[in-house]
Amino acid sequence: MKVLVVGSGGREHALCWAIAKSPKLTKLYCAPGNGGIADIAECVALNAMDLDGIVEFAKSEKIGLVVVGPEDPLVAGLADRLSKAGIKVFGPSAAAAMIEGSKGLMKDLCAKYDIPTAQYARFDECDAAKEYIRVHGAPIVVKADGLAAGKGVILCRNENEAYAAIDHIMIESAFGDAGAEVVIEEFMTGEEASFFALVDGEHALPLAAAQDHKAAFDGDEGPNTGGMGAYSPAPVIDKAMAARIMETIIEPTIRGMAEDGTPYQGVLFAGLMITDEGPKLIEYNCRFGDPECQPLMMRLKSDLLEVLLAAAEGRLDEVELEWNRNAALAVVMATEGYPGSYDKGSEINGIAAAEAGGAVVFHAGTKRDGDRILANGGRVLAVTAMAPGVKKARQKAYDAVAEIDWPEGFCRSDIGWRAIDR
Ligand code: AMP
Ligand code: GLY
Repeated sequence: MKVLVVGSGGREHALCWAIAKSPKLTKLYCAPGNGGIADIAECVALNAMDLDGIVEFAKSEKIGLVVVGPEDPLVAGLADRLSKAGIKVFGPSAAAAMIEGSKGLMKDLCAKYDIPTAQYARFDECDAAKEYIRVHGAPIVVKADGLAAGKGVILCRNENEAYAAIDHIMIESAFGDAGAEVVIEEFMTGEEASFFALVDGEHALPLAAAQDHKAAFDGDEGPNTGGMGAYSPAPVIDKAMAARIMETIIEPTIRGMAEDGTPYQGVLFAGLMITDEGPKLIEYNCRFGDPECQPLMMRLKSDLLEVLLAAAEGRLDEVELEWNRNAALAVVMATEGYPGSYDKGSEINGIAAAEAGGAVVFHAGTKRDGDRILANGGRVLAVTAMAPGVKKARQKAYDAVAEIDWPEGFCRSDIGWRAIDR
């Protein structure tokens, strides 16, 4: 079977890496891919948001399955367009992807189906939003309703910060149209974890849990990023907790979405807060986490292509997943300056040496220039390793990081600290 993966990050490199192992695969394409993906797939010069181009390519190449990595093309309707053209796709319809595309809709779904989450209210009018803050006090959380590249959430310690957040989102339009509406939420406390389930419209199959580190610097300090490292499994989610998450959060969501006429197909990524009262939903994403996907793919023993195909064909009830019991951990290497402004084009050496000890260097933002690998983004590499326990996996990952020769790059030195402290 020919497969096309859409996207260009570390997540897509990990998906390609896992799919490439499938005996079912005859040819792997990635649009647009990156410098590392080019080693295992044919990179096609199509942007992930070029929906016309992707549908045309999939038709002309007779692609058997399209796997969509990022949220933007899903929210824009790529899966609908492919299905209409008769091409199988792993990823939700635009209507179902609104579970990530609109925080307000996601919260309304939770309210309707009794899914545990922070208390909330939605506002499209600034004064009413501020009045709600006056009544409820702080700490409180203000969120732009729409997609804001992970930056639309403002945690407010006091009321003045919350008023300023409303002005920032609604009056200064810091996130454009995504901030025409806001969601204001109760501030939850607890330990955060990411939980992933595969869904075929009707059946949900738990994948695994992971934890990431969003802050740029050691000790979870500094500005938020897309994620500076991740590991799986997450010790905070044991077997009993996973069962509770499936029963109280994932399954009611899948049933509710089917009942509402927007069945979900793809991977459902639940950002959770494990509170004293049990697991509560922070947010849903309609895609794999990046970098969570990298350790997940390293631990997965089952044939990923078969599993994704079963999800696309509504046969997940036939699937049982096999996992490596070891822990896997990814350390992200980013260009100096990220998540602020940074330069592109610096040369990276030592990748082969880093992989010699068994780690895998997933490329997140690189490009090839002849034999050279050049940095081409903020997050550039995700150095990922597997070993018995998070501590050993971390050692192995950092041993590999030490082999990378890239003066313009940096990484956190404490990925996994929460799991190791336990
Ligand atoms: P989100 O983009 O919705 O995942 O939010 C980004 C981060 O903000 C989350 O990973 C949490 O750390 C934090 N956060 C979001 N909503 C809440 C909440 N209601 N209470 C506490 N922290 C939150
Ligand atoms: N690492 C968090 C995310 O992908 O949203």
